[in-house]
Amino acid sequence: MSNVAEPLEISKEAQEQKNWYVRFTISHRVEHWVFITSFIILGITGMVQRYSELPISKWIVSLIGGIENLRWLHHAAAIATMLIVIYHIGALGYRVYVNRARLTMLPVLNDVTNVYHAFLYYIGRRKEPPQQGRYTFEEKLEYWAVVWGTIIMAITGFMMWNPIATTRFLPGQFIPAAKVAHSLEAVLAILSILIWHMYQVFIRHFNRSMYTGKIAEDEMLHDHPLELADIKAGTAKPPVTPEGIAKRRRIYIPIFSLAAVFMLVGVYFFIAYEETAIETIPPADRPAVFVPFTPTPSPIPLPTPTPAPVTSLTWEGGINQMMESKCVACHNSSSNLGGLDLSDYQTTLLGGNSGPAVVPGNPDDSTIIIIQSAGGHPGQLTDEELSQVSEWIEIGAPEN
Ligand code: HEC
Repeated sequence: MSNVAEPLEISKEAQEQKNWYVRFTISHRVEHWVFITSFIILGITGMVQRYSELPISKWIVSLIGGIENLRWLHHAAAIATMLIVIYHIGALGYRVYVNRARLTMLPVLNDVTNVYHAFLYYIGRRKEPPQQGRYTFEEKLEYWAVVWGTIIMAITGFMMWNPIATTRFLPGQFIPAAKVAHSLEAVLAILSILIWHMYQVFIRHFNRSMYTGKIAEDEMLHDHPLELADIKAGTAKPPVTPEGIAKRRRIYIPIFSLAAVFMLVGVYFFIAYEETAIETIPPADRPAVFVPFTPTPSPIPLPTPTPAPVTSLTWEGGINQMMESKCVACHNSSSNLGGLDLSDYQTTLLGGNSGPAVVPGNPDDSTIIIIQSAGGHPGQLTDEELSQVSEWIEIGAPEN
């Protein structure tokens, strides 16, 4: 917590006395630097896509060698971030389980009091800033904002990277929505780093602990007095024995290795599950010049071409069968095209819209003969069948 009037400086005295405390181990620092690198690459390549019309964006895109390279770089940095997350989970688990480190980054009720206390301090209603431990509430807020932001970016990033897989579970509108969320969360993250984090670590006072790993005693006293008290009282580090550590390592390492394999498979799935929409559009095909004729399937059952032979020249003797197989699909009681129903003797005599289909004794006046001899009907009788029908009508079109 800063006292704006008296900016904190590491006193000469503290430096000379070498009262330094280790704040970040080398693994903490390397992780932070790798994360910084991937964050900067993601931020630049992302903002260039968000503000693609700006001259500086166009300049950066051409510098990198085109939008494809830029997207590749963005994706590579995203993969690096996913790997950092896996590493972070593993390292955190190691510290907590094997080394029995306390969960100092977890928000506690006291943090809420500290926020209020700090507020009163800033408006001049309290003389002292709140006394905080290993991580101040400001640091906790930042850490959890990164956790939350990374989750959002991973989910929305996945949706844009695998749009087809996503739309198997969610409506299509979620893809553009994911893009908006991804891009706005990015702006939020970049602004909070530039304004909040930069202020906290560079401007408030230059905090070198991410470079040197160390923090001076007066800084500790100012920013983390409760942690300093713990260190002095010897209660900062939980009591662990080398045997205990070795034992827990033997349990932790195989379990985390297995979990890491699963997470790596997850990352592989994330990046290789499908080609992005841009790549899946098939190249334009040449249209086929020769298309062999294939019959279009009929919406109605088509009559079988060869009816059972007429055994005697009566309706029941085979004319009915002929009609059944060649005409009734279109001319029946429900779909009586032309008003004609040829499924029944009586309705056949009755005929359709143009009059009786069969006039006993007079084929020339029967519409069946008129229509069929004209030819080209959707259901056409052969010449032989037609002459049989004609003969049947000639002899009076008997039913039996
Ligand atoms: C694929 C469907 C289809 C088949 C099969 C079919 N027809 Fe038709 N038929 C029609 C249609 C459609 C009309 C009505 C044409 C119009 O009104 O211009 C029609 C009209 C007729 C008419 C005139 C009805 C009237 O009174 O206007 C007759 C007679 C006829 N068909 C006889 C037959 C015979 C006999 C067969 C069997 C050999 C047959 N049709 C098979 C579709 C079919």
